[in-house]
Amino acid sequence: MIIALLPAVVLAQSVVPGPWGNLKDHIKPLEITTDHQRITLYRRQQMLAKSAHFRAIEAVVIYDAPFKGQLRGQAQALLGLAGTLDTLFVPGTETQIGQHGAKLEIWQQPEEFGQHVAGFRKAVDDLAAAIESGGDLNAAYIGVRHQCLACHQSYRIFKPQPKPRPL
Ligand code: HEC
Repeated sequence: MIIALLPAVVLAQSVVPGPWGNLKDHIKPLEITTDHQRITLYRRQQMLAKSAHFRAIEAVVIYDAPFKGQLRGQAQALLGLAGTLDTLFVPGTETQIGQHGAKLEIWQQPEEFGQHVAGFRKAVDDLAAAIESGGDLNAAYIGVRHQCLACHQSYRIFKPQPKPRPL
């Protein structure tokens, strides 16, 4: 009986069983109890995914990492993420006062925000097209980068950055 109960207890303690043994997941379980938190969690993971694919493209286009053959796959992933960007901003999921995250203006200025979403999608389309056709990758990369920065400038509250240390 006790043995039958064990797996559930083990999972609740963040132990991940499998062929390599019972491994401990050191990231403690997140305390996610509201839809606001669930949606924000998902939105941030989607943003991190966008960032990772974009940075991988940057590593090749700007820093000459020798993976040109993988650009197409990275761009396809970015296209998929761009295609669902507008679904992530569910009303009522703006950041709480004093916290970092999504600004209330997203919902107060739906037309302008929609233009940012569309601009980003177009820039990612152009990047994917440049990769396919052997076009100007540098310009297409800058086009996407511009859209990331522009939307963040207007609609994202950043985490406070640690102050530079005195010399
Ligand atoms: C149309 C607007 C928009 C575009 C385009 C956009 N972002 Fe964001 N991004 C946001 C908003 C709003 C947040 C804050 C979301 C939150 O915390 O709920 C955010 C958050 C992030 C975060 C932080 C995620 C976290 O864990 O807190 C990263 C990283 C990020 N974006 C990267 C990017 C990159 C890289 C691009 C371009 C390839 C991009 N974003 C394009 C609006 C945008």
